[in-house]
Amino acid sequence: MKNITEKKYLTRHPLDIWKSEEVTNLLIDFFSANFKKAGLSQKMARDFVLTAFAKRKTEDREKSRETCDRILLEAKEKAKNGPDEIEPLELFDFSGTGTFIDIGANKLATINYLAKKFKNIKKFIGVDTIPRRNDFSDPKKSAYFQVDPKANNFPVKNDSVDFINLQFVLHHFLNLGAIKKTLADCRKILKPNGALLLWEESFMKNFDADMTRENNRLGIKTDKSLTEKFYALSEKKRWEFIVANDWLINVNNPHMPWTGQYYKWNEWINILREAGFGLEKEYNFGLRINGRIKQGVHILGLFEVR
Ligand SMILES: C[S@@+](CC[C@H](N)C(=O)[O-])C[C@H]1O[C@@H](n2cnc3c(N)ncnc32)[C@H](O)[C@@H]1O
Repeated sequence: MKNITEKKYLTRHPLDIWKSEEVTNLLIDFFSANFKKAGLSQKMARDFVLTAFAKRKTEDREKSRETCDRILLEAKEKAKNGPDEIEPLELFDFSGTGTFIDIGANKLATINYLAKKFKNIKKFIGVDTIPRRNDFSDPKKSAYFQVDPKANNFPVKNDSVDFINLQFVLHHFLNLGAIKKTLADCRKILKPNGALLLWEESFMKNFDADMTRENNRLGIKTDKSLTEKFYALSEKKRWEFIVANDWLINVNNPHMPWTGQYYKWNEWINILREAGFGLEKEYNFGLRINGRIKQGVHILGLFEVR
Protein backbone atom coordinates (compact mmCIF):
# COMPACT_ATOMS: atom_id res chain seq x y z
CA MET A 1 0.00 0.00 0.00
CA LYS A 2 1.29 3.47 -0.89
CA ASN A 3 2.21 5.44 2.23
CA ILE A 4 0.24 8.62 2.82
CA THR A 5 2.41 11.57 3.64
CA GLU A 6 1.09 14.55 5.50
CA LYS A 7 0.16 17.50 3.29
CA LYS A 8 2.69 20.31 3.53
CA TYR A 9 1.73 22.94 0.98
CA LEU A 10 -1.82 22.98 2.29
CA THR A 11 -0.79 23.98 5.80
CA ARG A 12 -0.81 27.61 4.61
CA HIS A 13 -3.87 29.83 5.00
CA PRO A 14 -6.51 29.03 2.32
CA LEU A 15 -6.24 32.56 0.90
CA ASP A 16 -2.49 32.06 0.29
CA ILE A 17 -3.27 29.06 -1.89
CA TRP A 18 -5.85 30.86 -4.07
CA LYS A 19 -3.83 32.37 -6.92
CA SER A 20 -5.06 31.64 -10.43
CA GLU A 21 -7.61 33.27 -12.69
CA GLU A 22 -8.57 29.85 -14.07
CA VAL A 23 -9.76 28.75 -10.62
CA THR A 24 -11.39 32.12 -9.92
CA ASN A 25 -13.36 31.90 -13.18
CA LEU A 26 -14.59 28.39 -12.37
CA LEU A 27 -15.60 29.56 -8.88
CA ILE A 28 -17.56 32.40 -10.50
CA ASP A 29 -19.31 29.94 -12.88
CA PHE A 30 -20.12 27.60 -9.98
CA PHE A 31 -21.52 30.30 -7.67
CA SER A 32 -23.31 32.10 -10.54
CA ALA A 33 -25.16 28.95 -11.67
CA ASN A 34 -26.34 28.23 -8.13
CA PHE A 35 -27.25 31.85 -7.32
CA LYS A 36 -29.30 31.93 -10.55
CA LYS A 37 -31.12 28.75 -9.58
CA ALA A 38 -31.79 30.25 -6.12
CA GLY A 39 -33.42 33.27 -7.85
CA LEU A 40 -30.50 35.62 -7.20
CA SER A 41 -28.54 37.73 -9.65
CA GLN A 42 -25.41 36.21 -11.15
CA LYS A 43 -23.75 39.58 -10.59
CA MET A 44 -24.09 39.05 -6.85
CA ALA A 45 -22.24 35.72 -7.13
CA ARG A 46 -19.53 37.32 -9.21
CA ASP A 47 -19.15 40.20 -6.71
CA PHE A 48 -18.89 37.70 -3.84
CA VAL A 49 -16.08 35.67 -5.44
CA LEU A 50 -14.22 38.70 -6.81
CA THR A 51 -14.42 40.59 -3.48
CA ALA A 52 -12.81 37.62 -1.72
CA PHE A 53 -10.20 37.24 -4.48
CA ALA A 54 -9.32 40.97 -4.51
CA LYS A 55 -9.03 41.18 -0.74
CA ARG A 56 -7.26 37.87 -0.19
CA LYS A 57 -3.85 39.49 0.36
CA THR A 58 -5.05 42.14 2.77
CA GLU A 59 -3.29 42.46 6.13
CA ASP A 60 -6.57 42.13 7.93
CA ARG A 61 -8.04 38.80 6.86
CA GLU A 62 -10.69 38.98 9.55
CA LYS A 63 -12.12 42.15 7.94
CA SER A 64 -12.22 40.56 4.50
CA ARG A 65 -13.94 37.48 5.98
CA GLU A 66 -16.56 39.78 7.56
CA THR A 67 -17.16 41.57 4.23
CA CYS A 68 -17.72 38.26 2.44
CA ASP A 69 -19.90 37.02 5.28
CA ARG A 70 -22.18 40.08 4.83
CA ILE A 71 -22.56 39.43 1.08
CA LEU A 72 -23.44 35.77 1.67
CA LEU A 73 -25.88 36.67 4.43
CA GLU A 74 -27.64 39.09 2.07
CA ALA A 75 -27.77 36.34 -0.59
CA LYS A 76 -29.31 33.94 1.93
CA GLU A 77 -31.99 36.51 2.86
CA LYS A 78 -32.83 37.35 -0.77
CA ALA A 79 -32.83 33.80 -2.17
CA LYS A 80 -36.26 33.01 -3.63
CA ASN A 81 -35.94 29.28 -4.31
CA GLY A 82 -34.75 26.51 -2.02
CA PRO A 83 -32.45 23.71 -3.20
CA ASP A 84 -34.03 21.14 -5.51
CA GLU A 85 -31.94 18.17 -4.49
CA ILE A 86 -32.50 15.19 -2.21
CA GLU A 87 -30.83 15.30 1.20
CA PRO A 88 -27.68 13.12 0.75
CA LEU A 89 -28.44 11.33 4.06
CA GLU A 90 -31.41 9.78 2.19
CA LEU A 91 -28.91 7.66 0.24
CA PHE A 92 -28.13 5.63 3.37
CA ASP A 93 -30.06 3.16 5.48
CA PHE A 94 -30.51 4.05 9.17
CA SER A 95 -33.32 1.60 9.84
CA GLY A 96 -31.00 -0.71 11.81
CA THR A 97 -29.18 2.07 13.69
CA GLY A 98 -29.59 2.20 17.48
CA THR A 99 -26.72 4.55 18.42
CA PHE A 100 -25.47 7.32 16.14
CA ILE A 101 -22.42 9.51 16.76
CA ASP A 102 -21.59 12.67 14.82
CA ILE A 103 -17.99 13.89 15.16
CA GLY A 104 -17.83 17.58 14.22
CA ALA A 105 -21.51 17.89 15.10
CA ASN A 106 -21.45 21.70 15.02
CA LYS A 107 -25.06 22.94 14.78
CA LEU A 108 -26.50 19.42 15.28
CA ALA A 109 -28.14 19.63 11.84
CA THR A 110 -27.48 15.98 10.97
CA ILE A 111 -28.48 14.65 14.39
CA ASN A 112 -31.69 16.67 14.45
CA TYR A 113 -32.58 15.66 10.88
CA LEU A 114 -32.23 11.96 11.75
CA ALA A 115 -33.96 12.33 15.14
CA LYS A 116 -37.14 13.48 13.36
CA LYS A 117 -37.07 10.71 10.75
CA PHE A 118 -35.75 7.65 12.56
CA LYS A 119 -37.44 6.86 15.85
CA ASN A 120 -35.47 3.59 15.93
CA ILE A 121 -32.32 5.58 16.77
CA LYS A 122 -32.27 5.46 20.58
CA LYS A 123 -29.11 7.46 21.25
CA PHE A 124 -27.45 10.43 19.56
CA ILE A 125 -23.95 11.61 20.51
CA GLY A 126 -22.51 14.88 19.23
CA VAL A 127 -18.77 15.66 19.46
CA ASP A 128 -17.06 18.92 18.58
CA THR A 129 -14.25 21.20 19.73
CA ILE A 130 -16.71 24.06 20.27
CA PRO A 131 -19.84 24.24 22.45
CA ARG A 132 -22.99 23.09 20.66
CA ARG A 133 -24.60 25.91 18.70
CA ASN A 134 -28.17 24.55 18.79
CA ASP A 135 -30.52 22.54 20.95
CA PHE A 136 -31.09 18.84 20.41
CA SER A 137 -34.56 18.16 18.99
CA ASP A 138 -34.73 15.09 21.25
CA PRO A 139 -32.63 16.01 24.34
CA LYS A 140 -33.55 12.90 26.35
CA LYS A 141 -31.89 10.67 23.77
CA SER A 142 -28.88 12.93 23.21
CA ALA A 143 -25.44 13.74 24.65
CA TYR A 144 -22.80 16.25 23.62
CA PHE A 145 -19.05 16.17 24.29
CA GLN A 146 -16.82 19.16 23.76
CA VAL A 147 -13.31 17.85 23.11
CA ASP A 148 -9.79 19.23 23.02
CA PRO A 149 -8.55 18.88 19.40
CA LYS A 150 -5.13 17.82 20.76
CA ALA A 151 -6.62 14.92 22.71
CA ASN A 152 -9.96 14.30 20.98
CA ASN A 153 -11.11 11.86 23.66
CA PHE A 154 -14.80 11.13 23.98
CA PRO A 155 -16.16 8.86 26.68
CA VAL A 156 -17.97 6.31 24.56
CA LYS A 157 -17.89 2.56 25.33
CA ASN A 158 -16.19 0.12 22.99
CA ASP A 159 -18.51 -1.87 20.69
CA SER A 160 -21.45 0.43 21.43
CA VAL A 161 -22.06 2.52 18.28
CA ASP A 162 -23.89 1.49 15.09
CA PHE A 163 -23.18 4.49 12.88
CA ILE A 164 -20.35 7.07 12.92
CA ASN A 165 -20.69 10.25 10.87
CA LEU A 166 -17.56 12.22 9.89
CA GLN A 167 -18.99 15.07 7.83
CA PHE A 168 -16.46 17.61 6.53
CA VAL A 169 -14.53 17.43 9.77
CA LEU A 170 -11.34 15.41 9.24
CA HIS A 171 -9.76 18.04 6.95
CA HIS A 172 -9.96 20.44 9.93
CA PHE A 173 -8.06 18.09 12.27
CA LEU A 174 -4.64 19.27 13.49
CA ASN A 175 -2.61 16.72 11.55
CA LEU A 176 -2.64 13.22 10.07
CA GLY A 177 -1.67 11.73 13.47
CA ALA A 178 -4.82 13.22 15.06
CA ILE A 179 -6.95 11.85 12.19
CA LYS A 180 -5.46 8.36 12.65
CA LYS A 181 -5.99 8.48 16.43
CA THR A 182 -9.67 9.37 16.04
CA LEU A 183 -10.15 6.66 13.39
CA ALA A 184 -8.57 4.13 15.77
CA ASP A 185 -11.05 5.27 18.44
CA CYS A 186 -13.88 4.98 15.90
CA ARG A 187 -12.82 1.41 15.14
CA LYS A 188 -12.99 0.59 18.88
CA ILE A 189 -16.38 2.16 19.63
CA LEU A 190 -18.06 0.79 16.50
CA LYS A 191 -19.96 -2.50 16.76
CA PRO A 192 -18.59 -5.28 14.48
CA ASN A 193 -21.43 -4.76 11.97
CA GLY A 194 -21.44 -0.96 12.29
CA ALA A 195 -20.80 1.64 9.57
CA LEU A 196 -18.77 4.82 9.21
CA LEU A 197 -19.77 7.53 6.75
CA LEU A 198 -17.01 9.85 5.57
CA TRP A 199 -17.89 13.11 3.76
CA GLU A 200 -14.89 14.93 2.31
CA GLU A 201 -13.88 17.74 0.01
CA SER A 202 -11.95 15.65 -2.47
CA PHE A 203 -11.57 14.28 -5.99
CA MET A 204 -10.94 10.96 -7.70
CA LYS A 205 -8.48 10.36 -10.52
CA ASN A 206 -11.20 10.80 -13.14
CA PHE A 207 -14.88 11.55 -13.31
CA ASP A 208 -16.78 9.51 -15.85
CA ALA A 209 -20.11 10.38 -17.45
CA ASP A 210 -21.81 7.39 -15.77
CA MET A 211 -21.33 9.07 -12.39
CA THR A 212 -23.29 12.14 -13.53
CA ARG A 213 -26.10 9.96 -14.89
CA GLU A 214 -26.25 7.80 -11.74
CA ASN A 215 -26.15 10.85 -9.41
CA ASN A 216 -28.90 12.59 -11.41
CA ARG A 217 -30.99 9.41 -11.28
CA LEU A 218 -30.65 9.44 -7.48
CA GLY A 219 -31.68 13.11 -7.27
CA ILE A 220 -28.16 14.57 -6.85
CA LYS A 221 -27.77 17.50 -9.23
CA THR A 222 -24.25 16.90 -10.51
CA ASP A 223 -23.56 19.22 -13.45
CA LYS A 224 -21.64 17.55 -16.28
CA SER A 225 -20.08 20.67 -17.75
CA LEU A 226 -18.89 22.25 -14.46
CA THR A 227 -17.60 18.91 -13.17
CA GLU A 228 -15.69 18.29 -16.41
CA LYS A 229 -14.12 21.76 -16.13
CA PHE A 230 -13.07 20.95 -12.54
CA TYR A 231 -11.55 17.59 -13.57
CA ALA A 232 -9.74 19.28 -16.48
CA LEU A 233 -7.78 21.39 -13.95
CA SER A 234 -4.32 20.21 -12.89
CA GLU A 235 -4.25 18.45 -9.48
CA LYS A 236 -2.67 21.53 -7.93
CA LYS A 237 -5.50 23.71 -9.23
CA ARG A 238 -8.18 21.26 -8.13
CA TRP A 239 -6.81 21.74 -4.60
CA GLU A 240 -6.73 25.50 -5.13
CA PHE A 241 -10.41 25.36 -6.11
CA ILE A 242 -11.40 23.12 -3.19
CA VAL A 243 -9.49 25.14 -0.60
CA ALA A 244 -10.64 28.57 -1.87
CA ASN A 245 -14.23 27.31 -2.11
CA ASP A 246 -14.04 25.81 1.41
CA TRP A 247 -12.94 29.21 2.75
CA LEU A 248 -15.77 30.94 0.82
CA ILE A 249 -18.45 28.61 2.20
CA ASN A 250 -17.14 28.97 5.75
CA VAL A 251 -16.96 32.77 5.94
CA ASN A 252 -19.66 32.62 8.64
CA ASN A 253 -17.44 30.39 10.84
CA PRO A 254 -14.66 32.55 12.33
CA HIS A 255 -13.40 29.74 14.56
CA MET A 256 -12.79 27.29 11.69
CA PRO A 257 -9.32 25.71 12.07
CA TRP A 258 -7.53 25.87 8.68
CA THR A 259 -5.19 22.92 9.09
CA GLY A 260 -5.30 21.83 5.45
CA GLN A 261 -5.75 18.09 5.99
CA TYR A 262 -7.25 17.54 2.55
CA TYR A 263 -6.50 14.25 0.79
CA LYS A 264 -7.32 12.71 -2.57
CA TRP A 265 -10.12 10.13 -2.40
CA ASN A 266 -7.82 7.11 -2.88
CA GLU A 267 -5.65 8.48 -0.05
CA TRP A 268 -8.71 8.64 2.25
CA ILE A 269 -9.55 5.03 1.32
CA ASN A 270 -6.00 4.02 2.30
CA ILE A 271 -6.11 5.99 5.57
CA LEU A 272 -9.39 4.27 6.46
CA ARG A 273 -8.05 0.86 5.38
CA GLU A 274 -5.02 1.28 7.68
CA ALA A 275 -7.47 2.01 10.51
CA GLY A 276 -9.37 -1.24 9.84
CA PHE A 277 -12.19 -0.05 7.58
CA GLY A 278 -13.16 -1.21 4.09
CA LEU A 279 -15.08 0.82 1.51
CA GLU A 280 -18.61 -0.45 0.84
CA LYS A 281 -20.13 2.32 -1.27
CA GLU A 282 -19.02 5.69 -2.64
CA TYR A 283 -20.68 8.70 -4.26
CA ASN A 284 -18.71 11.36 -6.12
CA PHE A 285 -20.99 14.40 -6.36
CA GLY A 286 -18.64 16.60 -8.41
CA LEU A 287 -19.90 20.17 -8.94
CA ARG A 288 -23.66 20.49 -8.57
CA ILE A 289 -26.28 23.01 -9.65
CA ASN A 290 -28.97 22.54 -7.03
CA GLY A 291 -29.71 26.10 -5.90
CA ARG A 292 -27.61 25.94 -2.72
CA ILE A 293 -25.75 29.22 -2.46
CA LYS A 294 -22.80 27.46 -0.85
CA GLN A 295 -21.57 23.92 -1.21
CA GLY A 296 -18.38 21.92 -1.60
CA VAL A 297 -16.90 19.33 -3.96
CA HIS A 298 -18.18 16.32 -2.12
CA ILE A 299 -17.29 12.65 -2.08
CA LEU A 300 -19.09 10.36 0.37
CA GLY A 301 -17.85 6.92 1.37
CA LEU A 302 -19.62 4.31 3.46
CA PHE A 303 -17.08 2.14 5.28
CA GLU A 304 -17.49 -1.04 7.30
CA VAL A 305 -15.28 -2.77 9.82
CA ARG A 306 -12.81 -5.20 8.19
C1 LIG B 1 -16.94 22.40 8.28
S1 LIG B 1 -17.63 22.12 9.85
C2 LIG B 1 -18.75 20.80 9.48
C3 LIG B 1 -19.87 20.75 10.46
C4 LIG B 1 -20.93 19.67 10.20
N1 LIG B 1 -20.36 18.34 10.32
C5 LIG B 1 -21.56 19.86 8.86
O1 LIG B 1 -21.29 19.06 7.96
O2 LIG B 1 -22.32 20.81 8.69
C6 LIG B 1 -16.34 21.28 10.73
C7 LIG B 1 -16.65 21.06 12.20
O3 LIG B 1 -15.65 20.23 12.77
C8 LIG B 1 -15.31 20.72 14.05
N2 LIG B 1 -13.97 20.21 14.41
C9 LIG B 1 -12.76 20.67 14.02
N3 LIG B 1 -11.78 19.93 14.57
C10 LIG B 1 -12.38 18.95 15.31
C11 LIG B 1 -11.91 17.88 16.11
N4 LIG B 1 -10.62 17.65 16.25
N5 LIG B 1 -12.82 17.10 16.72
C12 LIG B 1 -14.15 17.31 16.59
N6 LIG B 1 -14.66 18.34 15.83
C13 LIG B 1 -13.79 19.14 15.21
C14 LIG B 1 -15.37 22.22 13.88
O4 LIG B 1 -15.47 22.89 15.12
C15 LIG B 1 -16.64 22.35 13.02
O5 LIG B 1 -17.78 22.42 13.83
